[in-house]
Amino acid sequence: MVNVNFKPSKAYIEKALNAFGTLQGRQGRGNDFLGWLDLPSDTPESIVKGCEDIAKEWKDKGVQVAVVIGIGGSYLGAKAALEALSHSFGLNEKGIHVVFAGFNLSEEYHAELIDYIQDKSVAAVVISKSGTTTEPAVAFRVVKEHIEERYGKSEAASRIVAVTDKARGALKSLSDQEGYRTFVIPDNVGGRFSVLTPVGLLPIALAGYDIRALLKGAAAMARRCSERSEENPALIYAAARNEHYDAGKKVEILVNFNPKLQYVGEWWKQLFGESEGKEGKGIFPASVNFTTDLHSMGQYIQEGERMLFETVISVENAGRELVITNDPQNLDGLNFLTGMHLEHCNKMAEAGTRLAHLDGGVPQGRVTVDRIDEYNLGELFMFFEEACGISAYVLGVNPFDQPGVEAYKKNMFALLGKPGYEAQAEAIRKRLE
Ligand code: PA5
Repeated sequence: MVNVNFKPSKAYIEKALNAFGTLQGRQGRGNDFLGWLDLPSDTPESIVKGCEDIAKEWKDKGVQVAVVIGIGGSYLGAKAALEALSHSFGLNEKGIHVVFAGFNLSEEYHAELIDYIQDKSVAAVVISKSGTTTEPAVAFRVVKEHIEERYGKSEAASRIVAVTDKARGALKSLSDQEGYRTFVIPDNVGGRFSVLTPVGLLPIALAGYDIRALLKGAAAMARRCSERSEENPALIYAAARNEHYDAGKKVEILVNFNPKLQYVGEWWKQLFGESEGKEGKGIFPASVNFTTDLHSMGQYIQEGERMLFETVISVENAGRELVITNDPQNLDGLNFLTGMHLEHCNKMAEAGTRLAHLDGGVPQGRVTVDRIDEYNLGELFMFFEEACGISAYVLGVNPFDQPGVEAYKKNMFALLGKPGYEAQAEAIRKRLE
């Protein structure tokens, strides 16, 4: 179970209650993108089963690697879940090994991807809501060609699945033409809120994890977050972070003490950054992995510019046990730790850091998670999505658009010579001289 520990003032609870009313009443800006609120309970059995069936079919066929192609909201949720649920060193894989592509334009990365898959049985899932995003489209060209060359067009069609809009976009037309199976991303669910659609469910199922438990956890959290109450965790978190922001704490750091949660941080950064960073406003979302980054960012956090607050994701129960043993020589002087669980040291590091940062002027709140499993991850995803909707409405922005993302694309297309961008191209080149 996910719980929160933040102490916002009455005034900010009031603001969050208003924003909560706007979100749940579906009356705010961008309210045609609220389908994610209903996903945990309304996801049809056909979608869940459809994802599980493909996972089984490909596993039975001997597929060793599934390349999941997408960027932003079309990959970060699945990546976060798989990093959290998988063995840190790749052991004990339950399902198919999932790798990601299409989230950068690096020639090296994609060439090395081909090196990696060329002698393995491979399948691919291409995910793009718009169906026109350059990065996944380019990566898909590369992977599609590879799969078709190895297996022929007809077998390739059974090894490729597309997740996209139901009607629009190049990916939908391509899938219809090539006979790929498709899953639909609902019109009313934006990319960064889509982890509980097949965007997240299919890759997570392919890797062998329990997507029903994920949805169940999300549904339980959605119920808690639909209550107009000062106990509503999303509301409390949204209130606290806006209060910090208004008090001059412009940067929020999401902290974990478990490297498995690194990509939850990446997913969270997109969710909040893209939803709130607009109209000259918004908390800048950053993330760190502790204790690792205490040895790199710790100094700044303790004593640098006082514009920071921290939200710690604290996992209460470790998934494994390891006890520190006695060393008769005790050259490192650490025998006082003998018999202690390593996680106890981690918890004491967490508690010590909390106090040190509070003393250093970095306010802190905590999101506690029972353990890392599918159910708790479902709760966590839903909790942050609900909080993001409320928080952005407190801030006064539309959480569900991202107009600023277009700026780099226009310049890139002009520089690449895309037809229709000729006029801008010359001016842009001059500016780069
Ligand atoms: O949240 C969003 O809408 C974006 O970050 C998208 O997820 C991202 O740009 C990928 O878009 P698409 O799925 O259309 O390829």
